[in-house]
Amino acid sequence: MLRRLHHKQPESFAFTPANREWADAQISKYPEGRQASAIIPLLWRAQEQEGWLSRPAIETVADMLGLAYIRALEVASFYFMFQLQPVGSVANIQICGTTSCMICGAEDLVGVCREKIADKPHTLSGDGKFSWEEVECLGACANAPMAQIGKDYYEDLTAARLAEIIDELAAGKVPVPGPQNGRYASEPKAGLTSLKDFDSGQTKYNASAQLAVDIGETVKRIDGTEVPILAPWRDKGANHAPAASAVKLNEEAQDVRVATPAKPAAKVEKAKPAAKAKSAKAAKVDAPADTGTKPEALSAPRDGGADNLKEIKGVGPKLEKLLNSHGIYHFDQIANWSDKDVAWADNSLVGFKGRVSRDNWVEQARILAEGGETEFSKRVDDGDVY
Ligand code: FES
Repeated sequence: MLRRLHHKQPESFAFTPANREWADAQISKYPEGRQASAIIPLLWRAQEQEGWLSRPAIETVADMLGLAYIRALEVASFYFMFQLQPVGSVANIQICGTTSCMICGAEDLVGVCREKIADKPHTLSGDGKFSWEEVECLGACANAPMAQIGKDYYEDLTAARLAEIIDELAAGKVPVPGPQNGRYASEPKAGLTSLKDFDSGQTKYNASAQLAVDIGETVKRIDGTEVPILAPWRDKGANHAPAASAVKLNEEAQDVRVATPAKPAAKVEKAKPAAKAKSAKAAKVDAPADTGTKPEALSAPRDGGADNLKEIKGVGPKLEKLLNSHGIYHFDQIANWSDKDVAWADNSLVGFKGRVSRDNWVEQARILAEGGETEFSKRVDDGDVY
C-alpha cells in the first residue's frame, strides 16, 4: 500500500497542554543529543489525540525533537500503525485478517465493514463516524476472529455481532470488549477442563474488558487527562527540570508548564513550535552543572603516546576521542579517579551517561595501568573487538 500524506490537511496541530507535558516528559528520558529517540511515542501520542497523523502534527513533533521534517515523515510513513489519513470520529475498526481469523470468518467481518462503513478500507463512512482497515495478526488468535476497536479487542466475533457493535458505538454506547461468545478469556470453548475449583478472584470481565466497563469508555481520544504523568527521573537528574504535576496541570487546565525555582526557563511561552523547541534546548544547555568535579586533565599525552583506552570495556572509538578531548589519555589517570571524578564522567560524557560506574572503569583502568590484563582487554588485543 502506498503510504503518503493525505491530500487534505488541517491548518495546524497542537498537543493539548496535558499531552504536551506528557510529551516533554518522554523527551526528558533521553540523554542530551538523543531526543530524536522519542519520535515514536510522540507521533503515537499525536495520533491518539487526533485519531490520525496530519502533516502539521508530524512537523510539530519534528520541531519538538529538532529533526528535519523528512526524518519524522520517514518514521510516520514507514509504520503501518500510524494512520496518515483521517479516521472515523468514533472509531477506526481494525479487522485481523491473518490465518486464524481468516479461517474463522474474518472475511465476513470485512464484509460487514464494507456494508456498514465504506466499500474501501481507510475511507470514512458517510456520517464520518467510522473507518476500517484489515490488519495483521493482533495476537488474540485463540479468540479468532477478532477486531481491535479503539484500545480494546473484540474477540470471538460473528458478522452479526460486529454489526451490532458498530450500531452500539454509533449510538454512543460502550459495547463490552473481550470475547463476544461468553468466554471469559481464551479457555476452551466447551468450558474448563482443569483447575475447575480454582478461585482466581476474577472480575466479571477479563483484564482490560473490565477496565473499559468500569470507566465506561473504549474509544475515547487521549487528551492527557487520563492518568498522572509519571516521570520521576526528572526530579533526580540535574539535566532535567523537575516534572510539573500533571494532576495539578490537568485540574487547572493551564496553558503553560509550571515554572520551578531550579529552572525558570521551563515556562512555555505561546510561540511557534520551532521557537518553542529552540528555547527548550537552550534551557537545557543553561541547566545547572552536573554533579561531580572534572578530573585532572593533561594538555597532551605523555611521551610514548596515549594508552589504548578502548581496552576498557565500555569505551569505544567515539568515547575514547571524547575522553582525549577532555585531556584524558592514560589508564592511570582513570585509575586515580575519585568518586567525584566518576560522578562527573557519569554525568558529563554526553550520550554515555552512567557508563563509567556501570562498567567499573576505575577498576579496569587500575589493572591495565599496572600492566595487567582484563578479559575484555585480551579480546581487544586478540583483535576480537574493534
Ligand atoms: S490471526 Fe487474528 S489475532 Fe492472530
